[in-house]
Amino acid sequence: MPMVEKMQVIGGTRLEGVVSVSGGKNTAVAIIPAALLCDEPCTIDNLPDIDDVHALAEILRHLGAGVVYEQGVMRIDPRGVGGHAVPFHLAQRMRASSYLIGALLGRVGRAEVPFPGGCVIGARPIDQHIKGMRALGATVDSRGDTVRARADALKGSDVFLDMVTVGGTINIMLAAARAVGNTVIYNAAKEPHIVDVANFLNSMGAHVKGAGTDVIRIRGVQRLWGCSYTVIPDQIETGTLMIAAAATHGDVTVTGCIPTHMDSLAAKLLEMGARIDAGDDAIRVRSYGAHRAINIKTQVYPGFPTDLQQPMTALLCTAKGSSMVTENIFENRFRHLSELQRMGANVRVMDRTAIIDGVEGLFGASVYITDLRAGAALVIGALMAEGVTEIANTHYIERGYEHLERKLCELGANIRRVQVEESSPLTELVRG
Ligand code: EPZ
Repeated sequence: MPMVEKMQVIGGTRLEGVVSVSGGKNTAVAIIPAALLCDEPCTIDNLPDIDDVHALAEILRHLGAGVVYEQGVMRIDPRGVGGHAVPFHLAQRMRASSYLIGALLGRVGRAEVPFPGGCVIGARPIDQHIKGMRALGATVDSRGDTVRARADALKGSDVFLDMVTVGGTINIMLAAARAVGNTVIYNAAKEPHIVDVANFLNSMGAHVKGAGTDVIRIRGVQRLWGCSYTVIPDQIETGTLMIAAAATHGDVTVTGCIPTHMDSLAAKLLEMGARIDAGDDAIRVRSYGAHRAINIKTQVYPGFPTDLQQPMTALLCTAKGSSMVTENIFENRFRHLSELQRMGANVRVMDRTAIIDGVEGLFGASVYITDLRAGAALVIGALMAEGVTEIANTHYIERGYEHLERKLCELGANIRRVQVEESSPLTELVRG
């Protein structure tokens, strides 16, 4: 029987101490492609050491850019970029490859980008991205598995997004930065990383105003200049660590974060009975007694983030009472619940709402990660559980969390990697 590596977690320890958060995954994967718009080298700092960042560096090198990435600092020299086609095997690795459409159109007027990969949490079309590119004057052929776009000259325009889309907002911002004339994006997303991408573009000499509101105005410029930029801390990693602290009835201070980005989560943790102390760039979570059951509805920023829905459902498994979690952003983001059920959770799903009836405790089991934030949920469940949990498919975690295991162990968690016999393919098949 072949051997596979799994994460083994011995649950039941309280997390205690201080942990620093890394640079933001979802801002990093937008700013790296954005550097292609520049006519000079850029230096980007505080980039997390995660697979998606390495995958994007590979794509930029394939296109002809010089990319040196070490110790969290990436130096991108786009002057050698001549290509406009992204290889399928690279594009498929993540959702953020879609940003190459806007970046390449803005730089070379052409883009051939396979439809993106990324977590299977819903259909995740990119029709709004394409709508934006067409509004800016590009011809876009999206038949088959690749988006082929071309524009002799992008021309600023108004774009009213049919729904709030983080990726769509960012992609249109990238293409509009060097378009001729003015672009206005209505119904824009307001997430912190939208503001970070706008700040990066403006550091290169772009004119982006209103990021963080639902109307973003961009005045296109001819050239963009090299800059040095530091990406913001990861809002979702901060939240994941906060939830893990509460889940283990611990006492953890997350440093190097932006507490105001965490308001919606902090409010929910307070509602459950945890204690929250926020400073300028740190947030402390303490939790001693039983947690109260609560209701959550995921919303666009500043509402409760969909990316923290899954970690939060693990915490709710042992809350006193029945919690209701409604996932309003993605139509298939509850796949992790069946794995939590294997650990003793009492949960049922009705349409887009998970009803979680709190149980006394979870117990260790062999579980299977289906997507990035499901991985966070199962690690948190394993920290809470009595006994040993073995977690398969941990590569999802490496995609989006920088050294999560190491950080949790430094807080007292008992986690290690083990080589075990691969369970029968049937089991994996059955789990889908
Ligand atoms: C980004 O995905 C993040 N990924 C996601 O994080 C995050 O969950 C999501 O924003 C919402 O905050 C990255 O930034 C790389 P959307 P994105 O476009 O841009 C629909 C994680 O765990 N939609 O805001 O793909 C879409 O199907 C990941 O870090 C269209 O219908 O999210 C979804 O239902 C997971 N047409 C909703 O809008 C479009 O053209 C929101 O998607 C675009 C989106």
